[in-house]
Amino acid sequence: MLRVEHIDAGYGDVQVLWDVSFKVEAGEFIVLVGANGAGKSTIMKVISNLIQPTRGAMWFEDQRIDQVPSHHIIDLGIAHVPEGRQLFPEMTVRENLELGSLRSEARGRRKETMEWVMELFPRLRERQKQLAGTMSGGEQQMCAIARGLMSRPKMILFDEPSLGLSPLLTQDIFRLARQIHDEGLTILMVEQNVKQTLAICDRAYVLTNGRIVLEGTGTELLNNEEVKEAFLGI
Ligand SMILES: Nc1ncnc2c1ncn2[C@@H]1O[C@H](COP(=O)(O)OP(=O)(O)OP(=O)(O)O)[C@@H](O)[C@H]1O
Ligand SMILES: [Mg+2]
Repeated sequence: MLRVEHIDAGYGDVQVLWDVSFKVEAGEFIVLVGANGAGKSTIMKVISNLIQPTRGAMWFEDQRIDQVPSHHIIDLGIAHVPEGRQLFPEMTVRENLELGSLRSEARGRRKETMEWVMELFPRLRERQKQLAGTMSGGEQQMCAIARGLMSRPKMILFDEPSLGLSPLLTQDIFRLARQIHDEGLTILMVEQNVKQTLAICDRAYVLTNGRIVLEGTGTELLNNEEVKEAFLGI
């Protein structure tokens, strides 16, 4: 579904990603793990075309996507739930969600999709008239995920959905990711909760200093000595 090939990218003169290649098959739940500053969010931004790669190419469903504007990426069916949520704080929860459904294929199904996400997140139904900026951290994270789902994506990019959440809420978010994956959505997730995410994903890639250094199924990587040492403290 998504193919990323030999990508170099960075910010100005500073190169962050080096020859990054990976793929996501339709229906897969893929996780990218790596330490702070490894370049995980940068990969997400490259896929969404928020930054342009300096080398390499990307394809989504056989269409080349490394030269198209970011609104076009959304139209193709890729939703990006960015790190730090980025909701509109002065708008209500419901208004934030409605903004998620601007994609043409999503607009006509807005009512039905709204019902689906409210079903997934009962808390958002209760709080739909509340200003997003006054919601708790966990509630804002739910709202950001729900807004991504409102675009009816084929694939969703989650950048550290558990950031700043309690262990309990983190569990909830991962359970939910698993649930929407079971409903057919393809997921690419970046996470620092390495143990938990490797346990729920299909496959994973390990990123070190902007390079992909390991790849395997979640179970393989959980049992990998380097992963154990670097991320699991074993
Ligand atoms: N807008 C920017 N301008 C300049 N450098 C940046 C910018 N954004 C990120 N970087 C640098 O690029 C490198 C990779 O950052 P990135 O945000 O991709 O890391 P990450 O793996 O997502 O880390 P974290 O786990 O802390 O979120 C870091 O060294 C960071 O300082
Ligand atoms: Mg990041």
